[in-house]
Amino acid sequence: MQDRGFTPTQLAARAAYLLRGNDLGVMTSAAPKLYPHMWSWDAAFVAVGLAPLSVERAVVELDTLLSAQWRNGMIPHIVFANGVDGYFPGPARWEVNRLAANAPETAQTSGITQPPVHAIAVQRILDHSRRHGRSTRAVADAFLDRRWPDLMRWHRWLARARDLDGNGRIALYHGWESGMDNSPRWDAAYANVIADAVPAYRREDLVHVTDPGQRPSDGEYARYLWLLEEMKRVRYDDDELATAMSFAVEDVFVSAVFALSCEVLADIGEDCSKPRADIRDLREWSDRFRRGVVDTTDPRSGAAKDFDLRDGRWVATDTLAMFAPLLCGGLDRPVERVLLRTFDGPKFCGHPDLRYALPPSTSPVSADFRPREYWRGPVWPVMTWLFSWAFARRGWAERANALRAEGLRQAADGSFAEYYEPFTGEPLGSMQQSWTAAAVLDWLG
Ligand code: SER
Repeated sequence: MQDRGFTPTQLAARAAYLLRGNDLGVMTSAAPKLYPHMWSWDAAFVAVGLAPLSVERAVVELDTLLSAQWRNGMIPHIVFANGVDGYFPGPARWEVNRLAANAPETAQTSGITQPPVHAIAVQRILDHSRRHGRSTRAVADAFLDRRWPDLMRWHRWLARARDLDGNGRIALYHGWESGMDNSPRWDAAYANVIADAVPAYRREDLVHVTDPGQRPSDGEYARYLWLLEEMKRVRYDDDELATAMSFAVEDVFVSAVFALSCEVLADIGEDCSKPRADIRDLREWSDRFRRGVVDTTDPRSGAAKDFDLRDGRWVATDTLAMFAPLLCGGLDRPVERVLLRTFDGPKFCGHPDLRYALPPSTSPVSADFRPREYWRGPVWPVMTWLFSWAFARRGWAERANALRAEGLRQAADGSFAEYYEPFTGEPLGSMQQSWTAAAVLDWLG
């Protein structure tokens, strides 16, 4: 399974130790230095990794996140740890407690959202709880009862506030909301963002990742921060954001994740006798968003596209986003086979120079590819995990196992890096990234 480094047993122990080290009490920092707070989709993946160690602790993670849910249903992309400095932009820059009517009273958060992968974490918690005795199962069941209405509010907010014209695609108003901050997917949309008068700031990220070539550029950062100012002007109001923001895209990858998560949550709801009306809504959203994803695809290649709402243009990129329909299904079988061949072929996992047969964030044959630069090329273990989990769910056990085996070979260096250089396997970005450890723990669990 591995060609260097740690044995699976050692690796699992180190991953568990890492999560313990990043544990701040009721939340796990996404990474010890670069991301010293709780991030929304990180927290979901972290819960996936905690579940085999302790269902109880995994539940605490999601409880903390959901305690910071906004009144409109949004799960914010960061929940700030009390009294922890060293990250910018922090609460003082977002100012949501002063400005946003929907911000929670008892938590400090950012003002944007992140991909809705949380139902997957709930599913993994329930799976693990069923391997335990009655008391652990009761913890998981009580969690589901307590948080079901919040999970529904989260999904309902996405389906309504972020799909205003009902076409089954989620609108984002900041590239950070995609989780794939500087992906080439957003280059055209950011080209229209004029970072006007951004209040002064200092980039903390470059203190922790000292090679700036592994992070977004200063020009990109200025735009990221300008978008905060645009949001603050409209006090983070859902309706106003739709017209006020100079960045507005329909994200096909997030839409596919949402379709998948609605289906997962509907299945959970059925298993656990949740209200029929909720399950009906979840199934309707799942169908709508699956259709929304499939509607973006090229009829021959099956590749999915994003849509730039400001330019009114489709944005096709050779990035992970093109594979969105593989997560949620919906393509006709022959087209799906073509898309799977692209996933396996020389544009992605089958590129002859790759160290491991894993999908890079951007295709190495794309003109936009940069092997060390964040979402412009590196392999992200958490994405490998997501595809392997989704493939297993879709009944493609062999594919899921192949990704798992290669993902574990890559992780055997024990750095638990945020992302890896695709050709050399060099660990990049933040080390000891919680979600990388979580992926490993799930694979080895
Ligand atoms: N990923 C962003 C950062 O690098 C924020 O979500 O800070």
